[in-house]
Amino acid sequence: MRNITFFIVLLLLLVTGCGGDALKVTSLKVEMQENPVGIGTETPRFSWQVESAVPDLLQEAYQIQVARTKRDLLQEEKLVWDSGTIGSDETILIPYEGERLVSGGEYFWRVKATTNQGETKWSEPNLWSMALLDNSGWQAVWIGEDSLSNPGEKDDGLTRLAARYLRKPFETKAGVERAVLYISGQGAYEAYINDKPVSDDVLAPTVSWYPNRVYYNVYDVTSLVGRGSHVLGVVLGNGRYFGMRPRKGPEGIETMMFGLPRLLAQLEIEYSDGTTESIATDNSWKITSKGPIIANNEFDGEEYDARLELAGWSSTGYDDTSWNQADIMSAPTGELTPQPNPNIRVQEELTPVAITPLHDGKYIVDMGQNMVGWVKVNQLNGKKDQPITLRFAETIKEDGSLYMDNLRTAKVTDIYTPAADGPFSWEPSFVFHGFRFMEVSGLDQEPKLSNFTGKVIYDLMETSGEFETSNEIINQTFKNAYWGIRGNYRGMPTDCPQRDERQGWLGDRATGCFGEAFLFNNALLYSKWLQDIEDSQSPEGSISVVSPKFWTIYNDDVTWPSAYFYGAKMLWQQFGDKEPIMKHYPSMKRYLERIQEVSMQDFIIIKDRYGDWCMPPESQELIHSQDPARKTAGPVLSTTMYYSLLNLMTEFATLTGNEQDIPGYEELAAKVKEAYNKRFFDQETARYDNNTVTANILSLQLGLVPEGREAEVFNNIVEKTEVDCNGHVSAGVLGIQQLMRGLTEHGNVDLAYKIATNRTYPSWGYMFDKGATTIWELWNGDTADPAMNSGNHVMLLGDVLIWLYEDLAGIKNYPGSTAYKKLWMEPKIPDGLSHVNASYDSPYGEISSEWRKENGSFNWNITIPANTSAIVKLPRDLNILIPSEEGVRIVNDSDDYFEFEIGSGSYRFTN
Ligand code: BGC
Repeated sequence: MRNITFFIVLLLLLVTGCGGDALKVTSLKVEMQENPVGIGTETPRFSWQVESAVPDLLQEAYQIQVARTKRDLLQEEKLVWDSGTIGSDETILIPYEGERLVSGGEYFWRVKATTNQGETKWSEPNLWSMALLDNSGWQAVWIGEDSLSNPGEKDDGLTRLAARYLRKPFETKAGVERAVLYISGQGAYEAYINDKPVSDDVLAPTVSWYPNRVYYNVYDVTSLVGRGSHVLGVVLGNGRYFGMRPRKGPEGIETMMFGLPRLLAQLEIEYSDGTTESIATDNSWKITSKGPIIANNEFDGEEYDARLELAGWSSTGYDDTSWNQADIMSAPTGELTPQPNPNIRVQEELTPVAITPLHDGKYIVDMGQNMVGWVKVNQLNGKKDQPITLRFAETIKEDGSLYMDNLRTAKVTDIYTPAADGPFSWEPSFVFHGFRFMEVSGLDQEPKLSNFTGKVIYDLMETSGEFETSNEIINQTFKNAYWGIRGNYRGMPTDCPQRDERQGWLGDRATGCFGEAFLFNNALLYSKWLQDIEDSQSPEGSISVVSPKFWTIYNDDVTWPSAYFYGAKMLWQQFGDKEPIMKHYPSMKRYLERIQEVSMQDFIIIKDRYGDWCMPPESQELIHSQDPARKTAGPVLSTTMYYSLLNLMTEFATLTGNEQDIPGYEELAAKVKEAYNKRFFDQETARYDNNTVTANILSLQLGLVPEGREAEVFNNIVEKTEVDCNGHVSAGVLGIQQLMRGLTEHGNVDLAYKIATNRTYPSWGYMFDKGATTIWELWNGDTADPAMNSGNHVMLLGDVLIWLYEDLAGIKNYPGSTAYKKLWMEPKIPDGLSHVNASYDSPYGEISSEWRKENGSFNWNITIPANTSAIVKLPRDLNILIPSEEGVRIVNDSDDYFEFEIGSGSYRFTN
């Protein structure tokens, strides 16, 4: 018997190829998601990875098959697409070319690859389903409560309006084969079938510029729909549709508000006998706003009155006679669009690290980390009718109480009123806070750590990078960046998660988006945000520096809007997705023309609204520097940035087949460069304008320096940094975008390393030493005026994350390569750093790089995924032994460097 078992195991190993050298296709994705539900494009794009334990693998051809059922796919019958064998090494975003896809249809697909090591087997079947194409399938109408029925509520977007509860009972017959829910609740919704949530998403759907676009979600709810009686129940919160803070935004701009909450939902049921049924929102639905969520607003908090709980409201058998008939609401004017990016989810839970009593009966709960989300209360003892209040802040004052001065008008207060004496558990639905500390009041006894759980929320996406070095400050920068970046993903990249802004400010992300992409697979979030930016563009071509334009701000300057272009470039470079460039090219072109028209004088861009925002000021209390010697002139910032956008556009024009535009961009760029140098470049000293680091580094890195003068300009940057700033950063949001890479590229990685590892002000290390667990908005965030002093902004990261990956770890795209199909691996090794260990999940698979340099020995282990290659460059003085591994080819052996070309696999370079 034992022999037989052994034989079977061996046979299985042979058949499944689990011998360790299996060649296979894995990680199948449609539109960058695994088995997605509700795809909105008629040409979905397929991606996969090839895996092999044998090095130097290249794909030579692929074949994709698609069918309506799994059976048909496996039998190769009634295929709706068979690509046939396509000779190609591409595995990313291959567009569908089969029969026209059916609205709401479900599709199964598989792929196999031919490689230089043989052919893979067919992949396992994967699936995707389509959204309601062209919107003709919608029978549902928007419903809600078209009046305010609770005392004190005002239709002004500032009240914490009560949540609306909606329900619809329905019956099903036997043989339910598939049930799909199409749903949009504005501002935000939670949906249940027979009391069970339809998904784990929170704060759905994603935000948008509602007058132009309203997103809906699609859920496969087959497992929740059987035979018999059901109830579809939905709670509607305010989100960004109703309710925003403050009433007035920057410069008194009115905050946008779009109307009372409303719901559109349609449940499509398919039976095995071929019949179908729709349960759609109409005025037969029942609604009430007298439920337990008596007030909700993202900025101000949620109030929950357990005495008003509607037990069983989303189950069958509930008596809804006291509820009202739903009102038909006007449809939002925006185009109803299937949501292309995943929703927000709770993706980590934290237990607090300490609870400290205050003398007035309140307690301060410390989560140990500045986080974004909310706190769930577990089995906390409450007293009937005695509200328990939770307030949130990033820091505490000296007396131990919450420091809330920097939250401005945001009230950040959640209140729970128990219906009975005894323990209760609760968490809010339509709110989020940015906080490390929570104050609890209204308790009769001391709470325990286990009474609270921090729920960390952000857009669902994979963490794609890890990074560790021998330097503690760099490790902490990475960790704080990780917390700050994900905490600022709220269906759009936000400036901050805590005070009364939480908006999609463009300037914060122009270069930041590249760095973030190493830590998180943020492709779908950013391509959706580019759509928000386009939806917020004025007919004249102006870009709103807050998009979606909940504050409409058309400055017709360049620095903040550059994020539109840089974001598109990032998606192409990092993820190999050209579509955003194709889609947005005309709007980008219009914007550049607009700037030329209204902001350009003699080829200098004269408009600039924000300067080199948040540079270190001359005194510790200031937010913005008043010192002309430190500040960089607006036209320097906007003209260098405009020049870089013109260069990007020539690249985009080539990619999109708009070559006819190239001469125009080139000509304009040449004129801008000439005028800029004439006006700002001092021929004698090689200084730009008032010789700030920002003015010089932008001119150098964005390509405006006259040929042959680069080294002199660079020396000015080094001198200014070393002499005037004692090796510290002097840049704000603009200069910092180029600083770390610029210093390194021109040969001074040691100065970049010094800046990255400083502990004294101004530096990232200074922030940590003062207790920061995220990145501050201001270099002097511990002392500056609270009027603008968030503890969780990511813009001051500049290009440091890119520098960590590209320069310290040597994980970089080869010039012209995208998505790391071909890498350029040249780690820069600053004095004082002895170890770097980095990994990044690229679209082709995991790339890793770990080097150690100690006592004269150097060891570098790298892995690059199948179907990629790399040029590896190392200085000769490291005395590298040429590796004997297969697949290593010397391409250059100069006096200073060794250059190797390698295929996929793992390699070790050592001396
Ligand atoms: C935001 C910034 C933003 C800036 C622009 C601030 O209030 O928080 O991050 O970019 O305004 O003026």
